[in-house]
Amino acid sequence: MRIFIILPMPSALTPDQEIQELRDQLRHHEYLYYVDDAPELTDAQYDALMNRLKKLEEKHPELVTTDSPSQRVGGKPKDGFAKMPHSRPMLSLDNAYNEEELRAWDQRVREALPSSEAVRYVCELKLDGLSLALHYVPGAHGSSHLERGLTRGDGSIGEDVTSNVRTIRSVPLSVSAAKLKAVGLPQSFEVRGEVVLPQAAFVKMNEEREAAGMAAAANPRNAAAGTIRTLEPNIVAQRRLDFYAYFLLKDGEFLLPQQSTTLEALRTSGFRVNKYAKALKSIDEVVKFIADAEPLRDSLGYEIDGVVIKVDATAQQKRLGFTGKAPRWAIAYKFAARAGITKLEGVLFQVGRTGKVTPVAALTPVLIGGTTVSRATLHNADEIARLGVRIGDFVSVERGGDVIPKIVEVVEDKTHLRGTKEIVFPENCPVCSSELQKIEGEVDWRCVNNSCPARVREELLHWSARGVMNIEGLGDAMVAQLLGQSAELGGDAEVVTEEGAPVVTRKALIRTIGDLYRLKRDDLLSLERVGEKTADALLAEIERSKRAGLARVLLGLGIRFVGERTAQLLAAHFGSMDELMSATAEQLEAVNEVGPKVSQAIVEFFAVEKNVELVKDLASQGLEMTAEKRVTTSTLEGLTFVLTGTLPNLTRELAKEKIESAGGRVSGSVSKKTNYLVAGEEAGSKLDKATSLGVAVLDEAGLLELLG
Ligand code: IVH
Repeated sequence: MRIFIILPMPSALTPDQEIQELRDQLRHHEYLYYVDDAPELTDAQYDALMNRLKKLEEKHPELVTTDSPSQRVGGKPKDGFAKMPHSRPMLSLDNAYNEEELRAWDQRVREALPSSEAVRYVCELKLDGLSLALHYVPGAHGSSHLERGLTRGDGSIGEDVTSNVRTIRSVPLSVSAAKLKAVGLPQSFEVRGEVVLPQAAFVKMNEEREAAGMAAAANPRNAAAGTIRTLEPNIVAQRRLDFYAYFLLKDGEFLLPQQSTTLEALRTSGFRVNKYAKALKSIDEVVKFIADAEPLRDSLGYEIDGVVIKVDATAQQKRLGFTGKAPRWAIAYKFAARAGITKLEGVLFQVGRTGKVTPVAALTPVLIGGTTVSRATLHNADEIARLGVRIGDFVSVERGGDVIPKIVEVVEDKTHLRGTKEIVFPENCPVCSSELQKIEGEVDWRCVNNSCPARVREELLHWSARGVMNIEGLGDAMVAQLLGQSAELGGDAEVVTEEGAPVVTRKALIRTIGDLYRLKRDDLLSLERVGEKTADALLAEIERSKRAGLARVLLGLGIRFVGERTAQLLAAHFGSMDELMSATAEQLEAVNEVGPKVSQAIVEFFAVEKNVELVKDLASQGLEMTAEKRVTTSTLEGLTFVLTGTLPNLTRELAKEKIESAGGRVSGSVSKKTNYLVAGEEAGSKLDKATSLGVAVLDEAGLLELLG
């Protein structure tokens, strides 16, 4: 085992040596963490090593290499993702839905092979993500480095999502010569496997999306698919995707004679391989594996939707071949969706922070896959119409990887008679009675009353939430009391039928977020179940929140599309609320990662008088609305570069990333418009052309200097 060196590093090492040592250590600990699931360092210790490396690399940019653990997040792909052909098609699998179909497949496999041959199977979990192909090519000192990551695409041609794949910590950026040798791998090879979004990361992502007023992703697979195609590698890096390897190829052919040894080799060379894979000698053992695997579903932390069974021997696979789109030598045993039948008792219409009205089914509680389900989303009016569902119907409810269970269909037979009561989508807000509106082209109905108690309630809950102002003690029940509402208003238990909307009865202590900061001890003591201790603690928390800073205030305002990261970037760029509020869309878009959609949402938000008043009110209550201004430099803004020849240290890819992240553009050919040609060794015709056109020529050192 490698010894962990405690910082500061012994000064006897040269920067180069120390960088190498740090990289080795970081790679080793990434492996322990992401592949072995057995970390030896705390996150803080890991971060300390990483920070040290980043510092050294900053000081010695000439020593930066693309496979350094610090280089996971690079420049963004400029014009979407390039399309690239696969070395061999990425196929899908035929499915078996029960034991009978599985045994029939086993029969076909054995009949297609000589009866003298034993058939071994490898069972793997069927991870519910999307497949990726990773291409490794020769790197320095006999190692291999990740050159490219492709999505499945249409199976023949994938999309080059390398910049995003690099951010996945369980994807090695390089494989050392020693590791290659240990498993007998060539320097060029291809790994295929599945990228998944762990459930915890999925929940977090949806919380953030909701906080930013964006629709939640339906399930982890969709979320993973969306994430891997995001054009912002640093957002991808935050999402914590995970990659499990299962195939190893060379020039489109499987490299090793068995699937079981392939998994071993992948594991040894530093890839994450799912630990539940197993080689088995008979279909009976396979059936047992599946029975054992199904109950794992609720405890893995990532979604699986079945088991993949593969013929172990590559030679046998070859003889079995393919049918159309799927191999004959593998099959997916699909678990049944976790579903149950129950009665739709009623529908409640929830009003969200943005005013969106969501119909939610209130169900007779039913146990599905170990969880009691009593609510399911009906999404919107269109979905109710599509299902043709009525109150009193029996419905089939599925709980997939989805956040909220969903109603799949109405069940109708002798024991399940149809309900009789139509679901009427309200024309008025179920809480404040103002007329609902629908924006053309959108499916959602919205309450546009900015003072709607349901909306204010959601705004307050968002304001106090963890990760926002973080006001402890200001949860559902307290917010409801402060607003003079019954605790259930706008919440779950209020089943709103056609008969009418709930009424606000008690006196409200607050009506806006600003009112929170005017609350007095006596106000709080006048509430039920609030004693001196609770009142004082809450007041202290509210007081503390005044110092949360500009980014948190921005996040707390709940501007559409402004999540945590965007709020931070905006705060750092503008430095004060005043500057931000008076910024034009164009000025807003000068912030990294802010596009027209976000800038428009911000401009629209501050065009609403109530919002401006709230901000002024908060400022007058003493909330901190400034941030340290950090100017994001776009030193190469407006400059066009062309790269040619081999640079001594930087790969072309990294040079391009560096130029682009400093705001410059990299083009493929030299013209009069080219500002700089960056030329390395063996620069050819481009150098000649640049010289003849009088374009400035830089070497690597010159480029690095320009980059500052
Ligand atoms: S083997 C031709 N192994 O399932 C071989 N696929 O329904 C196909 N998947 O596209 C891939 N876990 O995205 C294989 N252990 C596993 C898998 C797996 C999940 C996905 C993969 C594939 C789909 C086919």
